[in-house]
Amino acid sequence: SEFDTLIINAKIGTASECFPGDIAIKNGKIYAIAPDLKALKAKNVIDAEGAYVTPGGVDGHTHIDQESTPGGSDYPYRGADGFETGSRSSVAGGTTTFIAFAMQHKHRPDHSLSDVIGHYHDCATGNSYADYAFHLIITDPTPERLAEFPTLIPKFGISSVKLYMTYDRLKLSDYEVLHTISTARKNGITPMIHAENIDIISFFSEELEKLDLLDPYSHARSRPALAEHEATNRAITLSEVVNVPILLVHVSSPGSVQRIRKGQGKGLPIYAETCPQYLLLTDAGLQKPNYEGANCVCSPPLRPSKEDLDGLWNGLRNGTFTMVSSDHCPFRTDDPLGKPVSIKDSGKPGGDWRLIPNGIPGIETRVPLMFTFGVCTGRLSIERFVQLTSTNTAKLYGMYPKKGSIIPGADADLVIWYPESKYKSTKLTNDMLHHNCDYTAFEGMEMLNWPRYTLLRGQTVWDADKGEVTGKKGYGQYISRESSWYAKNQVLFDDITQDAWKNEWRPSY
Ligand code: URP
Ligand code: ZN
Ligand code: ZN
Ligand code: ZN
Repeated sequence: SEFDTLIINAKIGTASECFPGDIAIKNGKIYAIAPDLKALKAKNVIDAEGAYVTPGGVDGHTHIDQESTPGGSDYPYRGADGFETGSRSSVAGGTTTFIAFAMQHKHRPDHSLSDVIGHYHDCATGNSYADYAFHLIITDPTPERLAEFPTLIPKFGISSVKLYMTYDRLKLSDYEVLHTISTARKNGITPMIHAENIDIISFFSEELEKLDLLDPYSHARSRPALAEHEATNRAITLSEVVNVPILLVHVSSPGSVQRIRKGQGKGLPIYAETCPQYLLLTDAGLQKPNYEGANCVCSPPLRPSKEDLDGLWNGLRNGTFTMVSSDHCPFRTDDPLGKPVSIKDSGKPGGDWRLIPNGIPGIETRVPLMFTFGVCTGRLSIERFVQLTSTNTAKLYGMYPKKGSIIPGADADLVIWYPESKYKSTKLTNDMLHHNCDYTAFEGMEMLNWPRYTLLRGQTVWDADKGEVTGKKGYGQYISRESSWYAKNQVLFDDITQDAWKNEWRPSY
């Protein structure tokens, strides 16, 4: 019988091996993988010319069409990307599935979690070029809302919930964290934790304010690495005390990596994510003149030194990190509610970081940056690259092996790279990107490869030779998720750590 697409002469890179071969695709799924399938008939043949073919990127952390608030401010900021532009950007950078956040608002206690999720479905349905899923963000874990947790997987296909230890309007107390993560565990849901110490940040913010230090660089000074280290340590303790696996999101500092590694060394199920900005950028960008530093404001902030970057790369190499996500959180600089509103309205010569919405774009650049600065430079093996940008994310968030793998039966979500000889190193500019943001914090970086074709369920949705997104808006589907694959090892964890609890009571699930 005839196949839809045949990819020939590929160097197939998966989370566990790399081998030369061909791939046959039928009905949107991978049908066969073999050393030579050239005798098969297919409607469409793509010659990879010996280049790497890797699973489509899975981005575990994106803010799409989300109302956001910078620390302390009451302004509602709307991100620059909705599902149309965010997903278009996603496929052009080799990411075939992204997980966005459905955010509960503290000031809307009347909204059920079902209302919140319904709202994001309304935003996404029919608009996406890429497949997508949702995490829930919980900011007000009342007993009524926690009582909805049992519905999250069966009714909504949502198996992860993000909670914040910082931001006045988002933060949970430790007491609320314990209630939320233990309820999550009972229902097979993985908690994701934004760990920064709110009191350190509030104290520093006030001191900086008294000194009139309100430029973008002072945003970073208001939240020193120790604020992240302390909260990371506390999150690990809270996880241990109720015996719940957690994922620490957007880890920015080697001191946090050490604390996570120590917990993992005890056998605790602590997972961790970092982002390209923390691996590649320092806080030098925050010190640019003319308020350009505002473009680099994110939380946690960019850290000072090369040692910070190296410490995070070590965490990628030694297995401390589970995944690299983008934390795509775009705000335009020409939007009246975007990045520069603050300098105009602040009446301060250097602007006022308290009014700058936190976050930078990155859904399109994540996979190419990790390929360039990981694989091309020899810092990551192709296998480790695939684990960090695709497979582990699909596993942790319950989409594997449909997503994140190249095996027969999996969705034919693939990135076909350029053969080394065919790609001329290119300076990254914002003009090349497909998001709706008017800058990239990675401007000028030297790219050594880029996804030549992105395939989503067998369809070519990005063709770099043509220079265009060839997919259709609305082709992207909602992905209903199951519990974490890693949770399957949970019984083992309970056995391992039981010793430490001889004289103490702990909850059972
Ligand atoms: O600065 C950031 N990362 N803004 C997005 C919100 C968050 O905490 O992920
Ligand atoms: Zn409502
Ligand atoms: Zn966060
Ligand atoms: Zn985020």
